[in-house]
Amino acid sequence: MKVSIIGGGGLVGSCTGFALQTSGVVREIALLDINQDLAGGQALDLLHGGPSTADQIISSGGYEHIPDSDVICITAGLRRKPDESRLDLINRNVDLFLTILKDVQQAGPKNDAIVVVVSNPVDVLTYLAARRLDLPCSQVIGLGTQLDTIRFRSLIADHLKIPPTQLSALILGEHGDSMVPIWSSATVGGLPLEKFPGWSPNLANELFTRTKGSGAEVIKKKGGAGFAVGIAIRDVIDSIALDSQLVLPVSSVQDGCYGIRDVALSVPTVVGRQGVVARHEIELWPKEMQGLRRSGQVLRQTIDTVLQRVG
Ligand code: 2OP
Repeated sequence: MKVSIIGGGGLVGSCTGFALQTSGVVREIALLDINQDLAGGQALDLLHGGPSTADQIISSGGYEHIPDSDVICITAGLRRKPDESRLDLINRNVDLFLTILKDVQQAGPKNDAIVVVVSNPVDVLTYLAARRLDLPCSQVIGLGTQLDTIRFRSLIADHLKIPPTQLSALILGEHGDSMVPIWSSATVGGLPLEKFPGWSPNLANELFTRTKGSGAEVIKKKGGAGFAVGIAIRDVIDSIALDSQLVLPVSSVQDGCYGIRDVALSVPTVVGRQGVVARHEIELWPKEMQGLRRSGQVLRQTIDTVLQRVG
């Protein structure tokens, strides 16, 4: 399987390339970037690690890589300023993103190519990609709250001093300010998190608040997130490459799951080689349902604003 990463010269794109290299699942990684020297440097740096990781083809270049790519991952875009919300980014990034979509379309992606959108605001851009590209909506996936979910799990596990792989906790909805913590299904080693010694509603709120602010926290400390974003993207792309059918909280244009339509946000989604294989509308607490629907409303309003400007 070949993966082309648009924005592959940047922090998120190059970390994605490194995550895909260390997992060793995909056969070919191409880093595409407007700064071709930078992408070439990132690709060379990855290539040097090949003998100790996996037998992969690693390259860089332009949209000549699109026609034979199985996955096209779009990470290009301007980064948020620490005090800027992802939705504030919208105007600055929409114009750039629409140009990328046009160039991808003109380059002629395969009929079964899967587009993975990472650029922010990811839910709005996922919606635009699904509407603008000549691919079925099911073949356009946004990273959505997969990143928020692994951050959420990591912070809870770190606080409770338990192995992070044994902590299951989900974030759904918008990858942004209206994201929803799903406490109803949170577990530690298969047991209810809310029964764990020392757990309390205050601690829950504190850890969720930190999760929601994690993107801005990392931007403030180091200028932008890269490692965890790359891992979250690898989770999605490896599930596509292996046709694992993992259930992941990723963004796609909804057609009725939880009563939500015509907006892209994250719900439990089965991810395989065809992209969105299915969605699981598993029962949530009423307040979780309300939060999810509010996410949909917030995103719908933004999409309507964007469409008024770009048509
Ligand atoms: C983040 O939250 C890049 O949106 C991503 O760091």
